[in-house]
Amino acid sequence: MSSTLSWFITIVSLANIIGCYVLIKWSSKPLPGEAAQGQVTGHTWDEDLQEFNNPMPRWWLWLFYITMIFALIYAALYPAMGNFKGSLGWSQKQEYEQEISDAAKTYGPIFAAYSKQAIPDLAKNPKAVQAGQRLFLNYCSTCHGSDARGAAGFPNLRDSDWLYGGTPEAIKTSIMNGRNGIMPPMGAALGADGVKTVVAYVLSLSRAGQDAAVVEQGKLKFQTLCAACHQPDGKGSHAIGAPNLTDDVWLHGRSPGAITQTVTQGRTGVMPAHGEFLGEDKVHLLAAYVYSLSNK
Ligand code: HEC
Ligand code: HEC
Repeated sequence: MSSTLSWFITIVSLANIIGCYVLIKWSSKPLPGEAAQGQVTGHTWDEDLQEFNNPMPRWWLWLFYITMIFALIYAALYPAMGNFKGSLGWSQKQEYEQEISDAAKTYGPIFAAYSKQAIPDLAKNPKAVQAGQRLFLNYCSTCHGSDARGAAGFPNLRDSDWLYGGTPEAIKTSIMNGRNGIMPPMGAALGADGVKTVVAYVLSLSRAGQDAAVVEQGKLKFQTLCAACHQPDGKGSHAIGAPNLTDDVWLHGRSPGAITQTVTQGRTGVMPAHGEFLGEDKVHLLAAYVYSLSNK
């Protein structure tokens, strides 16, 4: 925070507290021309309901003074005024770090014990799976959904269709280091007709009903432009996360429109790296949970 801003905040805050004091002092004194204390002000409602000029109750006034004194003491002890850190030296960051280190002391040994066991064994241990599921709900469900079924662009982790492989090691690597799936835009290289024929070929790999002559043209294009990543048989490659195009499981949508858009404009999928952020022990447990979903 700049020192100008700090002074601005400090002055406005103090002026507010002092302002409250002045306002109460001022309003508790009779104004010129006002009815004397204990006298009728002259306002009458409902024929006989009269207003008297009585002072505010003492206890009520004192509550106000106490809140002001509280504010001043609080501002002296805690970081409440601009850059001033408060005489107690308390900070939100410190408290957060304290809580994290307390939690690490309590749960660290539990995670460490799990991390010594193989992922397929952990996946059969209901307690470990439950702990992994809790981590998943915290760190992964925003993208993969709380049931891990994913959404368009975010892979379903419950099925046995994998972009990068479903072995315990591949799953753990996906979580530790993250993944970057890049499907390049092919609209310019293919032209509108080329896109149509290659999409017909891609569709023919998983459903019937495509025009055989068009599919044949698309197949030629596929072999030159797509096979390097999706393999000549279209079954994809775990090494670069190129999806299997023959299994009728779709990351970016199943409709011919969605597939045409994928081929024309390309798609990118980013799975953020979690290793550094969560630590290997937690990632190990998460991998066991994910592994358990498709290996019952
Ligand atoms: C910001 C969104 C996001 C978060 C958070 C996220 N993921 Fe992902 N994850 C993705 C995307 C997108 C992909 C697919 C990457 C691609 O398209 O190449 C992916 C891929 C994966 C894969 C590989 C799937 C496969 O088919 O090979 C695994 C496993 C995975 N995530 C597990 C997790 C776990 C466990 C967590 C929580 C620690 C997590 N993800 C958090 C977006 C996310
Ligand atoms: C450089 C490698 C590469 C090339 C070349 C490539 N793709 Fe892809 N393709 C990918 C990757 C990686 C993905 C997954 C993108 C993601 O993770 O979001 C993908 C995704 C797709 C999808 C979406 C699959 C789904 O499940 O939704 C289709 C369809 C597709 N590619 C078709 C093609 C066609 C047709 C060509 C040739 C014209 C082609 N690709 C060329 C790497 C490639």
